[in-house]
Amino acid sequence: MLKDELRPRPAVERMAPYSPPTGDRADKLRLDFNENTIGCSPKVTQFLAEHLIENDLAVYPEYTDARKELSQFFQVADEEMIFTNGTDEAIQALVNTYVDDEDEVLTLRPSYAMYKFYAEVAGAVVREIDYRIAKLEFPLQELLGAITPATRAVLIANPNNPTGTGTNLEGIERILQKAPNAAVLIDEAYYEFCGVTALPLIEEYPNLFVSRTFSKVYGMAGMRFGCLFSSAGNIRWLHKAQSPYSVNSLAALAARAAVRDQAYIRRYVTEVLAARELLYVGLEKLKIPYFQSQANFVLFYAGERAVEIRDTLRNRNILVRDRSYELPGCVRVTVGTRDQMRQFLEELSTIW
Ligand SMILES: Cc1ncc(COP(=O)(O)O)c(C=O)c1O
Repeated sequence: MLKDELRPRPAVERMAPYSPPTGDRADKLRLDFNENTIGCSPKVTQFLAEHLIENDLAVYPEYTDARKELSQFFQVADEEMIFTNGTDEAIQALVNTYVDDEDEVLTLRPSYAMYKFYAEVAGAVVREIDYRIAKLEFPLQELLGAITPATRAVLIANPNNPTGTGTNLEGIERILQKAPNAAVLIDEAYYEFCGVTALPLIEEYPNLFVSRTFSKVYGMAGMRFGCLFSSAGNIRWLHKAQSPYSVNSLAALAARAAVRDQAYIRRYVTEVLAARELLYVGLEKLKIPYFQSQANFVLFYAGERAVEIRDTLRNRNILVRDRSYELPGCVRVTVGTRDQMRQFLEELSTIW
């Protein structure tokens, strides 16, 4: 122990550090974080400019108008939703509300890193169930088999990052039925690209929590805005464990404008789905194996060269994510527009 530090809680001491490569990305083709690669709707920035007056920044956030508009948009009652500072805060709020030291939390592997992160901060025992290796299929039977009466939370992304694979509603209902004592989070960060949602089930299953984010298709990752949905009774508990001002006023304003411009979202999704096909064809031409995805990113297999490919592309101003630390030989590329995919494939073909 150094002299200039105070010993943290053992749970924090035990954790592996997690620091995604977020620096020096601005002027590059950003195919590394599954963001919207062309930015949010211009109507969002217009709305912010019109509504932002000096006095508004002096006032603590008020969410009344935003709650009204967003609950209508998502077709839920106002009391069935909380706003969160990105999905990350949704995961944190759920864990803070339901998971105690040494409780058991189930996640899938590989999956979004923040499930394990917040469960470990809370001192939980995390059990990870592996995706099926050959096609990275959702391991439904294995997960059902791992749920016990001691399971306190099940944290799932559907479709999953980084595999791009997902499960259907029947699978989700079987998990909910098998885990009546656990808080089951279905993280729908990539919902708009696949169209499968558990949201209408929140009134039927008191153990269901559904999250949505504005960081992906909405192009507002920098704003940090998300929503967490559950039954009204659960939402009251979540409110109790959440800071009242964690979402800032600008993010709440931006979200209102964002949901109004659905034409922009539809156009972007259509473009990404076409670009994903183009990417598949390009990878096939290069004889590069890849996994079919239900989201705006694709995992491809670069074998021993995964890190080298990532670094060489970076030197050519294209960012992708090496995932070989969890799926040996795999690199993840975000799907943007068809032009961006052509640019990516062109560079890739010169180094493959
Ligand atoms: C499955 C999943 N959930 C949530 C997030 C991040 O969401 P947010 O920016 O809303 O915290 C990501 C980002 O990569 C993700 O892949």
